[in-house]
Amino acid sequence: MSAPILVISTSLSSDSNSRKLAERAAKILGECDYVDLRDYPMPLCGSDTSFGDPNAKTIGAMIAAARCVLVAVPIYNYDVSAAAKNVIELTGKSWQNKIVGFMCAAGGKSSYMSVMAVANSLMLDFRCLVIPRFVYADGTSFDDFSITDAEVEKRLNGLLDDARKLTSALATVSL
Ligand SMILES: Cc1cc2nc3c(=O)[nH]c(=O)nc-3n(C[C@H](O)[C@H](O)[C@H](O)COP(=O)(O)O)c2cc1C
Repeated sequence: MSAPILVISTSLSSDSNSRKLAERAAKILGECDYVDLRDYPMPLCGSDTSFGDPNAKTIGAMIAAARCVLVAVPIYNYDVSAAAKNVIELTGKSWQNKIVGFMCAAGGKSSYMSVMAVANSLMLDFRCLVIPRFVYADGTSFDDFSITDAEVEKRLNGLLDDARKLTSALATVSL
């Protein structure tokens, strides 16, 4: 049986800071499902076979089964990475009515609004309830293995508290 909260790590980098956020979130939550996109290679959305891709179907089913999806994203060119956007495009309607939270890893401090385009799209296309509290961390917040910045850890706990409360409060509410 699926847990109500699904954590997705979307970075394809072997040395990823957003994955450190995702792994820490999963550890704090304890009871959650966790998926690393590196384990599910997918074609680019729009190619002829992309919508029938088996890995996209698997991830789509995991998203559909969750109540809340927490997405860890790399920030590329003032947006979420192409891989993060691609999985959202390939899994489309699976996102219907989900509670969604974002954990972002960036190179610098100035790209903190980068998830807004994808957040808007999830709200408008799929009526997602986007938690209005993002985690945003630049490269100075990590060592080789984990989060080293107490403020980022605090913000992550704030996001997870909100995710837990909303998931439980809205368990029986159709958004
Ligand atoms: C193609 C590319 C574009 C990037 N664009 C931005 C950007 O717009 N803003 C920023 O702060 N960092 C940018 N970065 C830095 C990444 O956000 C940073 O390396 C981050 O750690 C990536 O997440 P990851 O470690 O989880 O893969 C970019 C990196 C790459 C490779």
